[in-house]
Amino acid sequence: MRLKGVAIAQSLFPSAARGLPVVAIDTLRAATTAAAALAAGALAVRPVAGVDEAFALRDRLPGAVLGGERGMRPVPGFDAGNSPREYGRRLVRGREVVLTTTNGTLALARARSAKSVAFAALTTAPLAAQWLLDQDAQEALIVMSGTDGQFSYEDALTAGAIAALVPDADLDDLLLTACAAFQARRRGLEGALRMTPHGVRLIEAGFEADIAIAARLGRGRVLPVRDGRDKTRLTPWRRS
Ligand code: MLT
Repeated sequence: MRLKGVAIAQSLFPSAARGLPVVAIDTLRAATTAAAALAAGALAVRPVAGVDEAFALRDRLPGAVLGGERGMRPVPGFDAGNSPREYGRRLVRGREVVLTTTNGTLALARARSAKSVAFAALTTAPLAAQWLLDQDAQEALIVMSGTDGQFSYEDALTAGAIAALVPDADLDDLLLTACAAFQARRRGLEGALRMTPHGVRLIEAGFEADIAIAARLGRGRVLPVRDGRDKTRLTPWRRS
């Protein structure tokens, strides 16, 4: 399988994803949080780009949980922020989650023409590699969300973890670099996340515990995925 990397969400032209499987990555924290919500029994995660759109969708989905962040903090009027610790069974079991975040949901929106999409983080990297193999495709894209239009080291670590787990993959230069970064830090992922600019901002904002959760390579039980039929929902995918 040929794997191509995309360094930031803004570099993904929707036409480039047409007909391909796409793995969109947001390690800190949206993809970690979406996987946590689905593992805790949420029926689906509905990613939306804007706050107004999120309120409007929640109004059309009675019982849905409204979550996400702006500037890493919960949005006033929302039920929850963007911390994976908030999405426990008590809040989400049997409910849909409408989620809007600054960068991660943008990558998903830009992958709208993809054949199928997985939303991955370090916690779900092995599942994402397996999901890619199951797509039975010649080519796929791995899109790193980045942060506010800038490349993010934490997303490169996840991209490298996934690419390293796809046997015999033909990797482009970006993914070869990501693999090298992952191999260099695979035994110190929490420390690596803590030193990134996003990690530093999360620690300053009081979300240090989320970094430890996001660094748990392969601990996620389900992978949020979107198929070609319903592009509005991420639902749980498990290894068969
Ligand atoms: C994002 O999508 O920008 C992030 O998930 C931000 C955050 O850490 O909450």
